[in-house]
Amino acid sequence: MQIKRLLSLAALLGLASLSIVAVVAQEATETPTIEPPTPFDCKEGVELKGEPIKIGIAVAQTSNVALLGQEQVIGAQIAGEFFNNCGGINGRPIQLVFQDTAGDEAGAINAFQTVIADGVVGIVGPTLSQQAFASDPIANDAGVPVMAPSNTARGIPQIGRYISRISAPVAIVAPNAVAAALDLNPDIKNVAVFYAQNDAFASSETVTFQETVNKLGLNLATVQTFQTTDTDFSAQISNALALDPQLVIISGLAADGGNLVKQLREFGYEGLIVGGNGLNTANIFPVCQALCDGIIIAQAYSYANESPINQTFREIYKEAQGKEPPQFSAQAFAAVQVFVEALIALDNEVGLDTLELAELRTRLNDTLLNMTYDTPLGPVGFVSEGEADGEIIQGQFYVAQIQMNEDGQTGSFVFIR
Ligand code: ALA
Repeated sequence: MQIKRLLSLAALLGLASLSIVAVVAQEATETPTIEPPTPFDCKEGVELKGEPIKIGIAVAQTSNVALLGQEQVIGAQIAGEFFNNCGGINGRPIQLVFQDTAGDEAGAINAFQTVIADGVVGIVGPTLSQQAFASDPIANDAGVPVMAPSNTARGIPQIGRYISRISAPVAIVAPNAVAAALDLNPDIKNVAVFYAQNDAFASSETVTFQETVNKLGLNLATVQTFQTTDTDFSAQISNALALDPQLVIISGLAADGGNLVKQLREFGYEGLIVGGNGLNTANIFPVCQALCDGIIIAQAYSYANESPINQTFREIYKEAQGKEPPQFSAQAFAAVQVFVEALIALDNEVGLDTLELAELRTRLNDTLLNMTYDTPLGPVGFVSEGEADGEIIQGQFYVAQIQMNEDGQTGSFVFIR
């Protein structure tokens, strides 16, 4: 099962933090091995020729979910240019086909159907797990590989054989943030948990957070629910603050999560705040402004990762955006990278020209599951068989804290773990 392989890669690479090994080790009984990846071989100066190979990028370019999706578009664009400059697929260009999913299930279904009809070999998307549970079955039934760039809810790879994710699941990532909060304040006793009950990812992430609170022997004082469409959280905040929490943990998306943080502070809450993966973007800064300061968020990416591919990605991103690259952009880049490397391997093995589109999609899926990749996220691989096939195997995780500048508008993610 995936847990065993995660442990084995983590052990092999010697990269996992102790907390991650502890989460994994409970279920591990054996340690199959996975090859460490070879660095991506960039072949600059190759003249690209032939029909482009299309990869769909179906993420949220509009709606509130674009607070996350815009970062994915940037990461994918950088990847598209980078991998074509590195020789494409053995000299054939890749073409990224961008299709806006907006923020709901219907938008994701439409975008998936559109790019599938356009002849893409695989899809990077959608932005939300809530959307993925609706759109991924369509790709799976059509035999089109999906690489989920940010779907972290439990159960995503289990949607089907063609569904994989580059975004580490909540169970692996979220506990690190609570551990970091305890590092900052070892006197935390009461914890208030908030989550968006109309969102599949938030409903999944909160389970992990609540389990972590209980495992650490903290008092789960209250669980408050809201909707991702809510703008007024005063009732839930009053309920929670009456119980004197020293830590508040929020699982929601960027707009609602940012607003909830703002209102918590306006109500006078001074303790630590952990935000989940849905708040993991500088695009919440305009929402909570100066009051974003101090939010603790677990990270599946660090711009400081020293691998050459990350440093190249980081330079390109910084040049274009004037700041350090965030997790959502890095994951989108890595998702495109997986398709590119698997396409090159498949071309080397059989020649892409010899395959009809349907066969190419199926062979691409089988190929990508059985390789490992040196990405900006660090070395990654996938569970390649069984119900959890497509689950990411990743060894490096971090925690950052938001530090707002005096202007109350700009800020940065400072790594604390
Ligand atoms: N990680 C969030 C989700 O899975 C964005 O929906």
